[in-house]
Amino acid sequence: MKKPPFLIVAIDGGAAAGKSSTAHALSTRFNFLHADTGSYYRALTAELLHRGVKAKDAESVRAELADLKFDTQIVARDARMKIHGDRISETDIRSEVVNNAVSHFAALPDLRAALLAYQRNLAEVARAHHFGGLVMEGRDIGTVIFPNADFRVFLHADPHERVRRREREGHVDAVAERDRLDSSRAAAPLTCPAGAVAIDSTHLPLNEVVERIARLITARLLGP
Ligand code: C5P
Repeated sequence: MKKPPFLIVAIDGGAAAGKSSTAHALSTRFNFLHADTGSYYRALTAELLHRGVKAKDAESVRAELADLKFDTQIVARDARMKIHGDRISETDIRSEVVNNAVSHFAALPDLRAALLAYQRNLAEVARAHHFGGLVMEGRDIGTVIFPNADFRVFLHADPHERVRRREREGHVDAVAERDRLDSSRAAAPLTCPAGAVAIDSTHLPLNEVVERIARLITARLLGP
């Protein structure tokens, strides 16, 4: 029997658009490695804040980045970032301080450049660990990191609904402000990638969002 192709699925969208739940469900269904790149920007932000560096001080950000070493720990199907061998806790990366600072750090070209090769290399990590593919979520995955991904998906949802989702998760998050900063920055702004399947998840249950994408993946795996 022919070996199924290794597939890359890029999922982009604003804060709380449903990316993580969708990516997680697809990774479980197809045994793909899951990379939540927002968690990488958050981990770097937490680490830089911990070192007393501010996003305004691009010079210090560059100097500190040169000193940081990242690697990956795979937990079930999740590719988690480690900095100097340690994981920064979920509580720390999802804190209000990080929520308010992350988009300012993410707008810095030096910080994005530091993560570019790391993110692309996760396709090799996935292959080396015998996953059937990689599902990566973020803001610039289909535009910058994997513009030739097998599937590019853009998720969006009404901003009020997205704030409600964050509140239900128990997080204080300036969803609209982060979207504004992420969409208006010069470096890799949040935008719908060319040729992406755009899905509005405002009134669509998660399982239907997942089904729509899963049907496309299944068709590709089954071949012509
Ligand atoms: O996905 P999440 O909301 O956790 O992402 C946190 C922040 O990280 C985003 O608001 C954005 O500023 C930044 N980010 C990014 N590019 C990505 C993923 C996240 O700029 N690919």
